[in-house]
Formats: sequence, structure tokens, C-alpha cells
Amino acid sequence: MAEARLQKLLAAAGLCSRRGAEEMIRRGLVSVNGEVVADQGRLVDPDTARITVAGRPLAKSEPQRYYMFHKPENYLTSMGDPFGRPTIRPFLERLDVRVYPVGRLDNDVSGVLILTNDGELGKRLMHPSYMVPKTYRARVKGEPSERELDMIRSGKLVVGDKPCAPARARMLDSGPDAGWLELTLTEGRHRQVKKMCAAVGHRVVKLKRIAYCGLRLPGTLKAGDIVELDDAQVRHLKVKVGLLPPGDSESKKTPASKNVRGTKTN
Ligand code: URA
Repeated sequence: MAEARLQKLLAAAGLCSRRGAEEMIRRGLVSVNGEVVADQGRLVDPDTARITVAGRPLAKSEPQRYYMFHKPENYLTSMGDPFGRPTIRPFLERLDVRVYPVGRLDNDVSGVLILTNDGELGKRLMHPSYMVPKTYRARVKGEPSERELDMIRSGKLVVGDKPCAPARARMLDSGPDAGWLELTLTEGRHRQVKKMCAAVGHRVVKLKRIAYCGLRLPGTLKAGDIVELDDAQVRHLKVKVGLLPPGDSESKKTPASKNVRGTKTN
């Protein structure tokens, strides 16, 4: 194998994200051939170098794996919580490989989270320049008007001190007290759906992400379940963020998933 940056090798081994690897290097935890690495970005040949992390040899890189997780409500998108609140960790630990969530959902939000140990794909999916679409169903207080939906669609709705990118918005169902709204955003700001809805006068009382980058949550994937993505789905994600060129075989529809792994925690 050719030389690669040390951060990339640590992330590819499923040990941490690239940022996590940089932090470990900064803390002097990483050695190559017995010497603590002080510089970020060191090029290393993984076939010949002896890499250790906190004194332990780095396992050879794990195969890259990709999953869709139906995150249940009331779990933090985190691998640990100082206050002991439930996190998604026990769900992920049922897999035979260490993977990380791509982005996050709020504690009270359910729906699609992509899990992978492919650090480069994860980084790109989260990068704003790729404008990865994320679709949500939101139950909101009151009955949003077309004018309010147009504000959400316009690219002029200011949240914090910045206008939000244009979003798709449509009412699925409405009544005098509350309605269901479907929104597709290409940004991933903190609590963005809740803030956008609040900015047009409607509080979100329930929120679910039903699709991520064109991959829809299958009705068969229950809250807490994880399913491995098939080749067409992985390819679809990689094409979207420029890791693969678009080709004839790229699936236009979201293919069915296979091989449910694991996973309900009650
Ligand atoms: N928007 C939110 O408000 N919360 C999420 O978890 C995701 C999008």
C-alpha cells in the first residue's frame, strides 16, 4: 500500500474520526516505529511502519462498511454522555465493526442516520459544499400558510444571523391546531428544522428524518434497527459527493436494502 497520512490510517482502522486522530497525535498518543509523532500529516506506509496508539499496535485497516440506522427518540447521537443519559452506543456495539454516525440528530428526533467507518465519505457527506439533501417530517403547532412555506422555500429566512438555503416544503396534512410538514434541507445547521419552523411561527412538536441523500427510511426498518446498505446505495452516496464518477449503472431509485443486522433495544 502507498504511503498515507497518519490521520487517515487511524480513521481507516475504525479507531476514530480524522479529527479524533489529530487530537490523539496532539496528545502524544501515537507512535511510529517507536517514536512519538509530533507533526500532523506525517506520511506513513502502513505495510512497513509499526504504528501504536496509546502503546497498542494499530490493527490492520478494517473493511469499509456502511449502514442505515433508524435512530429512536430519546437517545443522544453520541458514544457517551457525562450525565449518563441514553446514547446510541449500545445499538452500534451490536455490529461486528466499529462505525460512527454521519452527523447527528437531536435527542428527541428519530429517523435515518448513516453509520460508517469510511471517514472520507462521512466527512464529505457532512460538508456543506456537497449540499446533501435531508428530508424530515415535522409535526408543527398551528397551521402554516402558503406564505410561511414560501418563506422557508425562498432562501431568505434568517436563522441566527444567516439566511437559510432554499428548502423544499409542503404540507402533508393540516388541522386547526397542528399540521404535518415535509421539509427537504441541503444544510445541516444545529436544530435547523426546529429553528426554521419557529422562525415562521410554528413550534415543532415531533420530528423524524425520513431520507438522507436520497436514501429513504424503509417502512420495515423499525426504530432501533440497523440495515447494511447494498452496493448500489453505497455507490449512490459516493457519486453524490464526488468519490465515484456518475455511471450508467447508478441507480435512479433507492434500491431495497438487504441483510438486517441486529438490533432492537427495548
Ligand atoms: N433539525 C433539527 O431541528 N433537529 C435535528 O435533529 C435535525 C434537523
